[in-house]
Amino acid sequence: MPIQFRSGECIPLEMHKVRMVQQLNLLPVEERVRASQEAGNNTFLLKNRDVFLDMLTDSGVNAMSQEQYAAMMNADDSYAGSETFYRLEAAVREVFGDVRFLPTHQGRACENIISQTFVKPGQTVLMNYHFTTTRAHIMRNGGKVVEIVKKEGLEVKSGLPFKGDLDIDRLRSEIKTIGAENIAFLRIEAGTNLIGGQPVSMANTREAVKIAKEAGILTVFDASLLSDNLYFIKVREKEFANKALKDITRELGSLFDVTYFSARKLGCSRGGGIFTPREDLYNAMLALVPLYEGFITYGGMSVREMEALAVGLRESLDMHVIGQTPLFVEALARELSSANIPIVTPASGLGCHVDAMEFCEHLPQGQYRAGALSVAAYIAGGVRGMERGTLSEDRRADGSERLAEMELLRLAVPKRVFTLSQIKYVADRLGWLYENRHLIGGLKFTFEPKILRFFFGRLEPLSDWPQKLAEKFRKDFGDSL
Ligand code: F0G
Repeated sequence: MPIQFRSGECIPLEMHKVRMVQQLNLLPVEERVRASQEAGNNTFLLKNRDVFLDMLTDSGVNAMSQEQYAAMMNADDSYAGSETFYRLEAAVREVFGDVRFLPTHQGRACENIISQTFVKPGQTVLMNYHFTTTRAHIMRNGGKVVEIVKKEGLEVKSGLPFKGDLDIDRLRSEIKTIGAENIAFLRIEAGTNLIGGQPVSMANTREAVKIAKEAGILTVFDASLLSDNLYFIKVREKEFANKALKDITRELGSLFDVTYFSARKLGCSRGGGIFTPREDLYNAMLALVPLYEGFITYGGMSVREMEALAVGLRESLDMHVIGQTPLFVEALARELSSANIPIVTPASGLGCHVDAMEFCEHLPQGQYRAGALSVAAYIAGGVRGMERGTLSEDRRADGSERLAEMELLRLAVPKRVFTLSQIKYVADRLGWLYENRHLIGGLKFTFEPKILRFFFGRLEPLSDWPQKLAEKFRKDFGDSL
């Protein structure tokens, strides 16, 4: 909750207290250089024991409430007909309305089922923006992805409050050019992940869905990042300032033919699910759940996680619960901006996205600016972020590098995990790094997998710049970690 201090400063006061803790380890800077080397200078390969603040992702690592933990003890382990499933189904219906629910083991499993059911070879899926796993599943089924996010969505700095909104004129023109019969579905992603966790507005969603429905096109909603998006609808979209989150969520739930989510994000648990108000669509997807996931009363999830999810979904209708991450992201964004660090604006949900294109403009893009920045941020503060730039793209078939449109370092803010002093620490070390950015050097692959190279690829620095950076750190901070 935003609270004003006597000085006028506004801070995101935590509306929860910490009752269980996990000890953290902050290695000396020289050890961080060593740990980065051992991990092939890829933050995905760092060991948790070497990481101080894990800002890689919020997926599956959000803090759970005492009510969620309590519910886990009450789970009904059973292959078929589990009471836990019926409790979860009731929670989904309570939050989203009169729908049929299919459980899955995580978000990408929903994408597998939806793509196999609805994408035919040669068809196009229109969407505001893709997520890595979404695009991969659509393409595996012979489909194409056409992104129609507003142009501001791809600009680093913008004043647009809903950068995830679709360009409605383009939606109309793409339907005309491609032909409705060649469009598998329109997909709208809440809290558009890869462009910086940017929200979509209700007004834009309503309009886009209406156009698709008039053209007879199926509509699909990726609600994985819904809780951040809901918060922004409430605070940034005038019409909803006085509306209950329950009503906003109900409206969103009722707009789409099919909705799916990663419960590693929405509902602060681990799992996923698909729901639809249409019996025919439910039946079309049904058989794939036992084939890929597990029987339809657990879908690959542990019943304990399902119980936690049922509670987590209901809790996502509480402004104190869903507001904490966006407010912490805003606080981090404010601190980073005051140190002149280039970041994606406006501040969004999910995390802060540092613009490595500008931060490391002294490096050629082919030396992986965002990758180098992720290594440097780890050395500077033991902070593990995620590269979202050229490293996250795979090479073209001819072996040439596919330079990304944006070079970002994502610093995810898992829900209710960090304290404000930890957020300030991140900003301080990033501020120091920005002042010493000329010391950051490039990277090159020593092991480069053909697909999804960012997960397992290993890299080495093009000089001894990590050691030089650590020496400068010692000089400036003395014995401080
Ligand atoms: N859709 C969106 C918008 C996501 O952000 C994710 C996952 C998925 C689908 C896939 O869900 O991981 O449960 O299979 N995003 C994670 C991240 C991986 O780090 O942002 P999943």
